[in-house]
Amino acid sequence: MKISVIGCGYLGAVHAAAMAELGHEVVGIDVDSNKVAALAAGRAPFFEPGLPELLLAGVESGRLSFTTDMSAVKGAKVHFIAVGTPQRKGEHAADLTYVDAAVDSLIPYLSAGDLVAGKSTVPVGTAARLASKVADAGSGAMLAWNPEFLREGFAVLDTISPDRLVYGLPSGEQHALAKDHLDEVYATALSKDTPLVVTDYATAELVKVSANAFLATKISFINAMAEIAEVTGADVTQLADAIGYDARIGRRFLNAGVGFGGGCLPKDIRAFTARAEELGRGESVAFLKEVDAINLRRRQKVVDSVVAALDGDVFNKRVAVLGLAFKPDSDDIRDSPALDVAAQLKGLGADVIATDPEAIDNARRTHPQLAYTTDLEEAFTGAAAVVVVTEWKLYRAFSPARALQLASGSVIIDGRNCLDATAWRAAGWTYQGLGRP
Ligand code: UGA
Repeated sequence: MKISVIGCGYLGAVHAAAMAELGHEVVGIDVDSNKVAALAAGRAPFFEPGLPELLLAGVESGRLSFTTDMSAVKGAKVHFIAVGTPQRKGEHAADLTYVDAAVDSLIPYLSAGDLVAGKSTVPVGTAARLASKVADAGSGAMLAWNPEFLREGFAVLDTISPDRLVYGLPSGEQHALAKDHLDEVYATALSKDTPLVVTDYATAELVKVSANAFLATKISFINAMAEIAEVTGADVTQLADAIGYDARIGRRFLNAGVGFGGGCLPKDIRAFTARAEELGRGESVAFLKEVDAINLRRRQKVVDSVVAALDGDVFNKRVAVLGLAFKPDSDDIRDSPALDVAAQLKGLGADVIATDPEAIDNARRTHPQLAYTTDLEEAFTGAAAVVVVTEWKLYRAFSPARALQLASGSVIIDGRNCLDATAWRAAGWTYQGLGRP
């Protein structure tokens, strides 16, 4: 099938490459000519495991192309909208400028029977509004909402083998044709019995935001338990293991630490709250404000722990910050707790040296005031205190004995509870996790 993908960020670029891998003929459209040039040459403009190989294979096969020219969508039967919906400046609501611009610029090229399939995370009600826009233009095209659940770091796997598919379809006579189009797109996944939920626009939109709200709530729940553990001497990691054995609860997303960040969870819970308030149901999701507050408190907790470990004053003291990305296997620094901690410590006058295997270039652009090194040994060298804020594998693998030789102090704050506390203590470190004695 010929497919177009509008917006080639984390979501769109992966979707385009994965669809080509599945045998479709795909054109990706983006307004950023640098991004398009990289993608067209088979290069990923961001770090995502497995994506470079997929891009190269797609481009070389001739099935995958990228351009800034919207007219290239002509002839495609399904047009995916994969542009960003960031938080509006100074507000909690989502900024739909890019979604509207994408649909507006797509409309002149649509033909009867084409399907516009929204993938971006949008406030409930958006799909119905966009469907009217598409219908009013009179081309005979239709609209569906087909939310995406990929995780950065596993984006290729999640797109090729999703754990479920959700179609929010138009009612009436367009329903069957819209479903046929999406079934053709996802034929490979459907042939492997991937669960499929066929529903209406509002449900499809809400599935996405409620999934992210649930995940954020799960993380903040365990971080709230960490706060209680901290005043009682309990160990939140053991607590998570113990409650996680209950299959109804499950152990995943119960890792207490510096909290969630990224381009999705934080802004999605805020946008959901804003949308619920518009709908007169603010109280239904008012708890998400608490989820957000707990999450942000953990960043402060990590900063306070570093300050306390350095006798209440970090001024001019060398602090090594291990990690900048919002999670490992990503170079994404959007709303990153790690970068926030580094910036806060720098703001307090600490001599911060930050390291990350992938995210330094991005961090340097937004936080030029920080000092960076890609060399982990250099980061440890002369550090009065060390703080781990992204759980990259190489930090777990680093020798605590070697780290102690390099550092000037012996305090390590494990903001992700990812290190082997026993090994670090045995090597002579004062190890401090979050929510752990
Ligand atoms: C999230 C969702 O997990 C995806 O299902 C969704 O498709 C995506 O948002 C999206 O809306 O596009 P992602 O932002 O890639 O995916 O990251 P997650 O793996 O959800 O992690 C989010 C944050 O939570 C990270 O900062 C991570 O370190 C933190 N986290 C995760 C914890 O602090 N504890 C945990 O137990 C798990």
